[in-house]
Order: sequence, then C-alpha cells, then structure tokens
Amino acid sequence: MPINLNQVMEDFNNSGLNELIDKLDHIAYRVKMGERLSTMQAMMNLLPYREFKNFKILKANAITTCIKLHNTLPVIVISEGLSENSIVEKYCQKYGSRVHHLAYLVKDIEEVVEIQKSRGVEFTSDKVIGSESEGIKQVFTMPTQTTNHIIEYIQRFGDFDGFFTPSNVEDLMISTAKLGEA
Ligand SMILES: [Fe+2]
Repeated sequence: MPINLNQVMEDFNNSGLNELIDKLDHIAYRVKMGERLSTMQAMMNLLPYREFKNFKILKANAITTCIKLHNTLPVIVISEGLSENSIVEKYCQKYGSRVHHLAYLVKDIEEVVEIQKSRGVEFTSDKVIGSESEGIKQVFTMPTQTTNHIIEYIQRFGDFDGFFTPSNVEDLMISTAKLGEA
C-alpha cells in the first residue's frame, strides 16, 4: 500500500500524543572501542561542545560521556564498550560507530507508552525503566526499519538533569540485547 503521510499525521493527531511529546533531549551514539575520545575531539573541534558528564556502566562494561553545546539541547551522549563482549561493542561490530537512539522529552511517559502500544508500537522492554523517586523514567522503541535507530521517550522529575541513573542505564542497555546485538 502506498504511504499516505497525511493519514499518518491525522492518526497521530487523533491519538492525543501531540500534547504529550515535547522536544529532542539527547542524541546517543555507540562507537567502537577506542573511538570515544576521537568522536568527542571531532565534535569539539567543529562546534563549541564541552564535556558535561561521564559514567561507567558496569553491567554493560561500557563508558558513556555526555557533551553539551552552551546550555542547549540536545545533549550528545557517546558510549563505548570496554571489552569485546560489551553490548556496545557488539552493536558496533555489527553496525559500525553510529547513532543508536534519539531521545524525546515527554510529559507523561506511561500515557505515551499506553497510547503507542494501542497503536501497535513495540518497545525493547515490557515496562518503563526508572521511577519518579529516581528523577527519570525512560523506554526504548524497537529500531526503525530503514535507519535502524531507536526512539527513546524520557520523562524527568524534580531537578534531575541526567540522562539515566546508574541502575536504569544498565537495564536500558540490557533491554536492547534481544535485538541480536549481544
Ligand atoms: Fe538515552
């Protein structure tokens, strides 16, 4: 059947999602082992990005750096595996260094997921990851068919300004393992 974008937009408008989805929050890259610093170097050479946060993700055996341009969004998040069996490294062996997901801020993530599930959208985990008390809730969609990247829905609470918590980033990364990356 030919693609009818007007129909796609009309269905989306009727779903109630317009008011719930705000803006692009971060772009997450997965890069091959040893390429995180050179990726940062390239970005920081071309644009006024500054190092913002660093995390070590023990369960996924990966390191993640966030860089920020002035005080704007989206933040760029760059993850690199620390061993051959890291989920991040296995992904890069399969696809090369590339964008893994685009994350969009939403107002009520549970409602977004409920609506999207009713529209047939599939996610990499059964439940939303994180909690209000941790300051953040997140969920990944299955990858898009053509460009093969994931859409993340993200909701923050209080003054939390991170992109994951140490515990939920592990759950998120592990949730993508079933995509044949690990
Ligand atoms: Fe993310």
